[in-house]
Amino acid sequence: MNNIILIGFMGSGKTTIGKLLAKEYSLEYYDIDEFIEENTKMSIPEIFKKAGESWFRDQEAFALTCLTDATNRLIATGGGIVERDENLETLKNGGTVIYLKASPDKLWTRAGKDPNRPLSTDLASFRKLFDRRKARYEAAADIVIDTGNLSVERTVEAIKKALADVNPTEE
Ligand code: S3P
Repeated sequence: MNNIILIGFMGSGKTTIGKLLAKEYSLEYYDIDEFIEENTKMSIPEIFKKAGESWFRDQEAFALTCLTDATNRLIATGGGIVERDENLETLKNGGTVIYLKASPDKLWTRAGKDPNRPLSTDLASFRKLFDRRKARYEAAADIVIDTGNLSVERTVEAIKKALADVNPTEE
């Protein structure tokens, strides 16, 4: 099967939904942040602190390239994957890209002030970041799922339906 790549802001449910979808379609689950942490032997907050965001973005772009180099994978990205133009191209060629969309308020309740997320320190900058990225998520996506008030289970159902519409012949 073609890769499924989940994109969306911090707190959009990429990890939770990703693991369920991987099971559903018997895909190998990969998380870009985990890949980076294993590769660099540093945690995400440590990377931001010691090496800076730009270096983190280099690692992120490298991870995306590596992970999209095979099929049958479910790839959960980090919220900033759409920051770099080169990643948009890699996403497009790497699989079916699904954007898990939610409002900044909802996202903040899930991911705000998380010590493991260096870019979620205050609501104002969180919102600003969201506003800067939102059009890029839409542009990068093959499928947009408005997770609004959907439960995790309903979100998975909505994705399955959307995938069947996009790839009717794929198993
Ligand atoms: C980031 C999101 C994080 C992680 C890093 C930067 C971002 O991933 O990659 O803290 O720039 O939005 P999650 O979206 O899984 O929180």
